[in-house]
Amino acid sequence: MLARDDNDRVTRVGPGTPMGETLRRYWLPALLAWELPEPDCPPVRVKLLGEELVAFRDSRGRVGLLDERCPHRQASLFLGRNEECGLRCVYHGWKFDVDGQCVDMFRSKRNRDNGYLLDRRVQKTETFTGIDGINVQDRAVQESMSPIVDRSREHLGPADRAVIQARRLLLQATRTVEAGGVPPGVEPTYYTLHPAEAVVARETDWRSLVAPDAPRAPVLERV
Ligand code: FES
Repeated sequence: MLARDDNDRVTRVGPGTPMGETLRRYWLPALLAWELPEPDCPPVRVKLLGEELVAFRDSRGRVGLLDERCPHRQASLFLGRNEECGLRCVYHGWKFDVDGQCVDMFRSKRNRDNGYLLDRRVQKTETFTGIDGINVQDRAVQESMSPIVDRSREHLGPADRAVIQARRLLLQATRTVEAGGVPPGVEPTYYTLHPAEAVVARETDWRSLVAPDAPRAPVLERV
């Protein structure tokens, strides 16, 4: 019978454990060759010594074994595209070669340098922006405002009341926290709140319709 400590020592095989570090000095069978039958074939999940991995065969026939989680935002590389000597994450397009090196970071063909391929004729005759695709439209407008927007230069109008209200709430929350208080939205009393949509008469207290049990916080500004 082993002592509990020794039992842990011989059974724990994750990275950094004594047995894990020892076993990683040896060759370990992971897959049969036919499981990656040809260049650029679908990747395969592999679990070795407690680690979730993905194996793939690149365009030149070389085999790579990567952490399943993409180092960018942790999406699964099992979902990745095996193409042109690398496995490309389908979330934001980072691409890794068989050595695990990031060899490409996806950059949209429509970007600031080419004016997001804005078509002025289309803008005049077909769509409001002339830019194809809602994602690209959003990105174009946001990037045009610079990485950190100087909001002291804005001039908000009547249509921006929700923006004004949200900023007041955020500023008020930071001051509350600085003063040692609890910002709004932390208390469990907010758990019953949920999104809702309705058209109601102007004099109606909309809160009594969508969240009758919610506590009445003071309204900073009526929209
Ligand atoms: S999570 Fe993989 S590229 Fe962003």
